[in-house]
Amino acid sequence: MQKLKRKIISKKAKIAVIGLGYVGLPLAVSFAKAGFMVLGLDNNKSRVDRIRKGKSYIKDVAVKDITSLIRKKTFQASTDLSLLKQVDVVLICVPTPLKRKYTPDISYIVSAVKTIGKFMTKDKLIILESTTYPGTTEELIKPLLEKSGMKSEKDFYLAFSPERIDPGNKKYPVTKIPKVVGGLSEASSSLAKVLYRKIVNKVHVVSSPRAAEMTKLLENTFRLINIGWVNEAAMMCDKLGINIWEVIEAAKTKPFGFMPFYPSLGVGGHCIPDDPLYLFWKARHHGVSSKFIKLSADINEKIPEYILTRVEGLFKKKVKKILVLGATYKKDVKDLRRSPAVKFIETAKKRGHSVSYFDPLIPYLEMGALHLKSIKLNSKAIKQFDCVVIAVAHTGVNYRMILDSARYVFDACNAYKGKKNSKIIVL
Ligand SMILES: NC(=O)c1ccc[n+]([C@@H]2O[C@H](COP(=O)([O-])OP(=O)(O)OC[C@H]3O[C@@H](n4cnc5c(N)ncnc54)[C@H](O)[C@@H]3O)[C@@H](O)[C@H]2O)c1
Repeated sequence: MQKLKRKIISKKAKIAVIGLGYVGLPLAVSFAKAGFMVLGLDNNKSRVDRIRKGKSYIKDVAVKDITSLIRKKTFQASTDLSLLKQVDVVLICVPTPLKRKYTPDISYIVSAVKTIGKFMTKDKLIILESTTYPGTTEELIKPLLEKSGMKSEKDFYLAFSPERIDPGNKKYPVTKIPKVVGGLSEASSSLAKVLYRKIVNKVHVVSSPRAAEMTKLLENTFRLINIGWVNEAAMMCDKLGINIWEVIEAAKTKPFGFMPFYPSLGVGGHCIPDDPLYLFWKARHHGVSSKFIKLSADINEKIPEYILTRVEGLFKKKVKKILVLGATYKKDVKDLRRSPAVKFIETAKKRGHSVSYFDPLIPYLEMGALHLKSIKLNSKAIKQFDCVVIAVAHTGVNYRMILDSARYVFDACNAYKGKKNSKIIVL
């Protein structure tokens, strides 16, 4: 253990990051920039090829960082997972989606861990960063790794440290967010702490991997529930003739006891819609059924339909031409996973409306039965639609021109904050 610790302290430890996505790529680049030799491993060949060519497919990672690190050979990408034999530290950043509602799909973790086991060498530190249910590290990963014949906390070290990155957030890149760490033993926690202290200022150690796993779920479930509540409040406010956005601005003036959450078309991405359901699943196996999680997930899922019903109300339910602005799940982030805007488009099409979309980040929308091309956004095009629904307000879009040209604008994200215009309908 001391030898590995010295290697980490002197930055001589070689680090592998498995999964070069929204989480793994920024993390790998951060360690490489800090002076470690980093190996990025992914079974997606096109991602690996792009990195090798010095390209970045994630907006938060600058092309110049990748090119300079690749040139210096401090960061290398590969699909060859047998290279795991050469490293001292392995960080696992693979996806954790749902198999179906309320059922985790941990197959990516299992596959990555089995591969690590295959290429296990003595004195490795292995850390899972993927969001998962409490117990995963101890109940699933430890026994899988011990199949290699090596013993945890004797031959290798094991910890969980949740990634808390917020894609697109310039104020808090990965290196500015404190890390939470829970090792299987004090030795594992201490090694993980020393490692992360090389890229972040604050590392908070908890007593076990399951406490660290639960920390991430507490954070994300807190968001799901509060978003659910504010979306429900938005629906109430509409009936009561109150502008929810005005109310949130007023509530924000309280210096304590209130934290703003904003209504929206719903929750999307790989985290907020799915992570709390990992917790729901695990708790149910222990006889606890979380009413908060279920209720919030259900409310958030119904918002696209709710907004569509309000749009239909403008035209007495006749089939209409609708333009959806913004297809991604989040502003300025090129990620369509679980996007409520896509759900809105699907629902509107099912109800017989003619739907087009515009998104500067997504030229083509090929998902399930959807095969759409982003329209060219100009005044003439907008005039052909009965209503523009602003799902996500990406920067660089001419919202004034949209308002001038549209018949109605349903503003689901407060793009026209405080603007008085009879064409604007707010969520
Ligand atoms: N996206 C976020 O904002 C965010 C934030 C915090 C935490 N997380 C969590 O981090 C984890 C990763 O999320 P992401 O958004 O980076 O996912 P992602 O889909 O963007 O990236 C995951 C990568 O892992 C690769 N991969 C999958 N299985 C592999 C295997 N066996 N071997 C090698 N490569 C493999 C995939 O090809 C993909 O490139 C998830 O658990 C997620 O919940 C995500």
